[in-house]
Amino acid sequence: MNPIIVAESIFHKGRTTFERLNRESPYQFLPIPIDECSISDAIRKHSAKSFIAGTDPYTSTLYQALPTGGIISRFGVGHDSIDKELASQNGLYVTNTPGALGNAVAEHACWMMGSLARHIHSAHHSTLGGNWAAPAGMELRGRKVTILGFGQIGQNLCRKLHFGFDMEVTGLGTRPESEYAHLKESTGYARYTTDMVEALADADFVVLLMTSTTATRHLADAEFFRLMPKHALLLNSARGAVVDEIALFDALSSGQIAGAGLDVFEVEPYVPQARDKDLRTLDNVLLTPHIGSNTVESNAAMAAASAQNIITILEQGPDACPNIVNR
Ligand code: 8YV
Repeated sequence: MNPIIVAESIFHKGRTTFERLNRESPYQFLPIPIDECSISDAIRKHSAKSFIAGTDPYTSTLYQALPTGGIISRFGVGHDSIDKELASQNGLYVTNTPGALGNAVAEHACWMMGSLARHIHSAHHSTLGGNWAAPAGMELRGRKVTILGFGQIGQNLCRKLHFGFDMEVTGLGTRPESEYAHLKESTGYARYTTDMVEALADADFVVLLMTSTTATRHLADAEFFRLMPKHALLLNSARGAVVDEIALFDALSSGQIAGAGLDVFEVEPYVPQARDKDLRTLDNVLLTPHIGSNTVESNAAMAAASAQNIITILEQGPDACPNIVNR
């Protein structure tokens, strides 16, 4: 048996795929509670060489439990929860699953945008409460959206918003436009810039899809919100760490920006960053529990890809795997 340890919550998401692989492959995918101690104990007990991780942070024993050449395989694209330096120091490979969830996350961002633009979620709750009224919303057609973070998911969202809803899309990032010019026709972006002031000044919507790093931590702060028009709506489908939630609460409650849709939070499950700054008390927010990629299709794709990363490295060596992120 070739055991592969899987965080229990992740096994549940990819159950169909992992159980099929347990039947059809020489590998055994074993669900284990997500805490680092249980994971490390299971790795030692089964002499496992690999672990499939969700977004939970791992900081210590996991990196010593896995043998040199072992693999930490992220079920997903973001790998901020894995200490890549510590992994490298222990001769481990860290992989992710780019491309497996891009459609799901982009679609979820569309639904958050549409719900905020037309007050769907608040109108729903208002109707449940016996009311029959809702404020006028705004159409997406012709509106301007800035996508901060123009990678695969950002480009996917751009395509949907431009060709699907006739929106004018600005891509915002740190890389030069020359890296994106060849995508202009297929994604439909109107403008790409590295100038954040320019990109936020006339945006009706701002969507955060950038990688969570020390450089992007709290990038969306009080100054960021002051650069947005007062009628603008913020969407965060990246990581909670990129938003200063206290500054966001103040911007939303003061009318500095009109509303926000958040699928990710500084602490998950959500806990207010300050007792008197609870985002759940505001009526101009839409909050979802990190479900952007949580679809039948995307979970199956992430399960297959996270498993394949491990199998490729074990059977063909690291040079055969294109998804190692700590080289
Ligand atoms: C989670 C995500 O990994 O890909 C990412 O970075 O945040 C999500 O896809 C996935 O839902 C497992 O928790």
